[in-house]
Amino acid sequence: MAKPIIIDTDPGQDDAVAILLALASPEELEVLAITAVAGNVPLDLTVTNSLALVELANRTEVPVYRGSIRPMVKELITAEYVHGPTGLDGADLPPPTIEEAEGHAVDKIIDIVKASSEKVTVCTLGPLTNVALALVKDPSIKENIGQVVSMGGGFFEGGNTTPTAEFNIYVDPHAAHVVFSSGIPIVLMPLDVTHKALTTKDRLQRFADLGTPAGTATAGMLDFYDRWDIEKYGLPGGPLHDPTVIAYLLQPDLFVGKHVPLEVEIAPGPTLGMTVIDWWGVTDDEPNAIVMNDIDSDGFFDLLVERIGRL
Ligand code: RIB
Ligand code: CA
Repeated sequence: MAKPIIIDTDPGQDDAVAILLALASPEELEVLAITAVAGNVPLDLTVTNSLALVELANRTEVPVYRGSIRPMVKELITAEYVHGPTGLDGADLPPPTIEEAEGHAVDKIIDIVKASSEKVTVCTLGPLTNVALALVKDPSIKENIGQVVSMGGGFFEGGNTTPTAEFNIYVDPHAAHVVFSSGIPIVLMPLDVTHKALTTKDRLQRFADLGTPAGTATAGMLDFYDRWDIEKYGLPGGPLHDPTVIAYLLQPDLFVGKHVPLEVEIAPGPTLGMTVIDWWGVTDDEPNAIVMNDIDSDGFFDLLVERIGRL
């Protein structure tokens, strides 16, 4: 029986690969909805990009809903410096011919979760604004959310947006606090994992060698997207963040982590948006998250190439 999931996202090239991976895996994952949030680029673009991606995957039955245009408290910051002005630079996708579905993503998350006969897995690939607002509007939905699997945070790796904060958390730290303190089981894919999943040239070539529209788009997107991180970190490739969330659902044994207490700093100052974990159990705090800190990166890319090759 396929696992029911909602993908909340701010595409973004790495979000795009995560979405393609999920849509290429219908036997294991039933994508109930894609909900767009402002993040890497403004909301209009994350909606348009989400529509273009379900069309590229020939999965246009999956509804795309428009969500939050800005974070709960802070002003929106975006990341065109990484993703380009369209958010999907390098993909060369045509404008979508399909329309976004009726209804606001926050309301639709509530409706879909409450209507599901099975507990829903919520996958967050961007700022957690939509999911947090759904929990604030109708806290009862937490009873039918099995887990939230999130790309976000950084521990021993520090931050990629401030010295202490990773982008998804920093854009909306208050939303991350609402979700991580909700009592819903959390699985977190932080920079400590994603910085070990690098889009090296050999790996990019494997997508290009697929010779399919999805393979070519993936190679083009990642070739554009990784230039900023390669320059910044001096690594042989860019960290491929968001597909780790979907890969965890398909092959959890690719990852190694620990069940630990996790919280987010929401006080203004140099640590705003910092994800704080008690990795060594020095407090009596209740563990609320499985935080990953290692990945079989070869196995991860094997999975990505095989699945995207199915589209
Ligand atoms: O820090 C990386 C995260 O921020 C990824 O989800 C990327 O898409 C951006 O949203
Ligand atoms: Ca993202």
